[in-house]
Amino acid sequence: METLRVLLLICHFAALATQLGACVYHLVTRRPPSGVLVGGAFGLLVTGVLLAVTAMAAAEPINGPKLGVKLVIAAAVLSCAIAARRRQGVRLVAACGLLAVANAAIAVLWA
Ligand code: HEM
Repeated sequence: METLRVLLLICHFAALATQLGACVYHLVTRRPPSGVLVGGAFGLLVTGVLLAVTAMAAAEPINGPKLGVKLVIAAAVLSCAIAARRRQGVRLVAACGLLAVANAAIAVLWA
């Protein structure tokens, strides 16, 4: 179970790097948002939920309110990414990146 948790955490970080990398790329080059942005946001949501399920299955103590807030913000990140791709909106790309950074801060700072 511990190996699975570590693998999922690595995938969680990889999804964060992909999503933030795509945000910076699109903001700097002003190219239309690609599927990589949506894929990174989707990966963050899926790996995050799997991490939470793994912790629950191992009967580890979990911080419910923190995970709930992260889930809502992750859903907002994915919605912004999908909307940015459909409407080609630069502000939506920026919102997507800022919300992801906010969620990373919550993950690290909220004990
Ligand atoms: C934009 C979306 C997200 C970002 C940027 C993000 C970021 C992070 C980061 C930076 C960590 C490492 C924290 C540390 O080890 O101190 C982490 C861990 C974790 N994340 Fe996420 N996360 C996101 C979404 C989610 C979602 C939706 C869930 C589940 C509801 C989730 C569940 C977890 C869990 C269970 C851990 C393991 C460590 C802990 O309990 O804090 N994450 N996340």
